Amino acid sequence: MSLRPPSRRLLALGLSVAVILILMACTPSHNQSTFDPLGPVAEKQLTLFNIIFWAAVFVFIVVGGALIYTVIRFRRRAGQTEIPVQTHGNTPLEIGWTIAPAIVLLVVAVPTVIYIFDIAGEPPPDALEVNVIGHQWWWEFEYPEQNVVTANELHIPVDVPIKLNLTSDDVIHSFWVPKLAGKQDVIPTNINTMQFTASGSDIDTLPAILFGQCAEFCGVAHAHMRFRVVVQTQEDFDGWVANYHELASRPPPTGDTEEAKGFTAFASRGCLLCHKTDGPASVEIRQSLKDAFERGELRFPAPNLTNFGGRTTMAAGMMDLNRENLIEWLRDPDDVKPGNRMAELANVYIDPDAVLSDEEISALAAYLLSLK
Ligand code: CUA
Repeated sequence: MSLRPPSRRLLALGLSVAVILILMACTPSHNQSTFDPLGPVAEKQLTLFNIIFWAAVFVFIVVGGALIYTVIRFRRRAGQTEIPVQTHGNTPLEIGWTIAPAIVLLVVAVPTVIYIFDIAGEPPPDALEVNVIGHQWWWEFEYPEQNVVTANELHIPVDVPIKLNLTSDDVIHSFWVPKLAGKQDVIPTNINTMQFTASGSDIDTLPAILFGQCAEFCGVAHAHMRFRVVVQTQEDFDGWVANYHELASRPPPTGDTEEAKGFTAFASRGCLLCHKTDGPASVEIRQSLKDAFERGELRFPAPNLTNFGGRTTMAAGMMDLNRENLIEWLRDPDDVKPGNRMAELANVYIDPDAVLSDEEISALAAYLLSLK
């Protein structure tokens, strides 16, 4: 059956639209596009992608071309009944199709191995070290040198090499900031490392907020286990650290204010059992929690909220941080982010007699937003 001309035109149109749509999917302006690398690690990975992609295109064209040529050139003609001439063995051809794939393999393998060693090598000694702990379903960032523990927004200075030590205290997650580096598994009882630098020469304006995402299925809220990377000047980063310590030592609000009522609710309604707002727990306590997990004891970690009000997002990068969203979250966290631990564990959400009142929710929001 042959296609009539209009359907051929329709087919051509359909194909063109499909090609345009596919090409549009590669737009580098997307928040999670790997075609817009902002640092040397992501740049090398993109270079490698291009080498392998074009090697594959070359193989596709040569093999597909040879196939199409052969099918047309040696097709059975009308009236042809005899079997075509049978050949067996052709030394030049056999040498050729052994050497050609070996060359293609070399073109792919040599840069791959070079880049693997390059990216997996030791970061420079002046690298900023951050311990990343994956949790169902949020990220904890611990800066041992700066004594900062925060959640879901990783602040890094521009042009400074970053070294991450990644681990998890529940299931396997995967840490991924597409514009900075490829994925790295985050595995309980094991520390994986990765390194990258955000290059100032690639970034137009600072601070730049980059998107991160857990890239390994880790349970019901996996798709909502997002985070942000805030790339800023060294000065702003130092300011962020100083602000964290200022907040950690700030006394709780007092008097007849919304914030003070919010803090009272925070302390009396059980929030303080899991969330800290006065800086990191001591190194000993943090270590004892890690040891407890390694012994197989359950723990229920929660994001450190010391600098919560200064974040741009909430609920692990799910939504913008603002009063409206925060109230929605405090009223019914499970409705916003199904599966989250707070809705499962906090007394105010599991005991119908302990439900937070509208006044309490409003005051809690005021208190939390003041933490900046
Ligand atoms: Cu954590 Cu997916």
